[in-house]
Amino acid sequence: RRRTAVLVSGRGSNMVALIEAAKDPSYPAEIALVLSNRPGAGALDRAAAAGIPTCVVDHKAHPGREAFEDAMQAELEARGIELVCLAGFMRILTPGFIARWEDRLINIHPSLLPSFRGLHTHERALQEGVRLHGCTVHYVVPELDAGPIIAQGAVPVLDDDTPDSLGARVLGVEHRLYPLGLALVAAGHAKRVGNRVHLEGARPQPALIS
Ligand code: GAR
Repeated sequence: RRRTAVLVSGRGSNMVALIEAAKDPSYPAEIALVLSNRPGAGALDRAAAAGIPTCVVDHKAHPGREAFEDAMQAELEARGIELVCLAGFMRILTPGFIARWEDRLINIHPSLLPSFRGLHTHERALQEGVRLHGCTVHYVVPELDAGPIIAQGAVPVLDDDTPDSLGARVLGVEHRLYPLGLALVAAGHAKRVGNRVHLEGARPQPALIS
């Protein structure tokens, strides 16, 4: 089982989904660390309640991005971490950090990429009038939300949706999709080929439609 860290900044519902999935001994990753850049993140309590080691690397306590990332790197190395999952981690990472974790660093983003990179995705999806919205698990590259796509989940957009109601529908799919995406990576099934991912020997199709 690949030793995996989950990096969080907030409530950590995707982190909980990964922790739950990894309780199954046949799941190919184990959650060995939850790291938060915010001391008050709700995710820390939820991880501790699940018996997962936690640590805080407060970005405000470091003079710059590189010092912050070096402190994170030290924690990840101290725990023998092999894979990193961003789960609502709201700091932009430098190309240097991303290069150190090449092919071993994934993120979940609340839209069907390449639509709606960045923030406020549900609001923007409603503004654009799309009929399908969703979430994406992807490898992290220096360009924001632009990395090779591993798995996607789609939901319908309803006429009376608000950003909150649509976001809640997407979040339900995120909780199913992220464990699937991490499993594909941890089991070595999601091979990067240029800016695409080829699935080798993977049975579950990494496309969910709710
Ligand atoms: C999730 O919807 C995740 O996709 C999103 O933040 C939320 C975190 O919720 N991530 C991003 O917007 C990344 N730019 P959670 O803390 O309950 O998992």
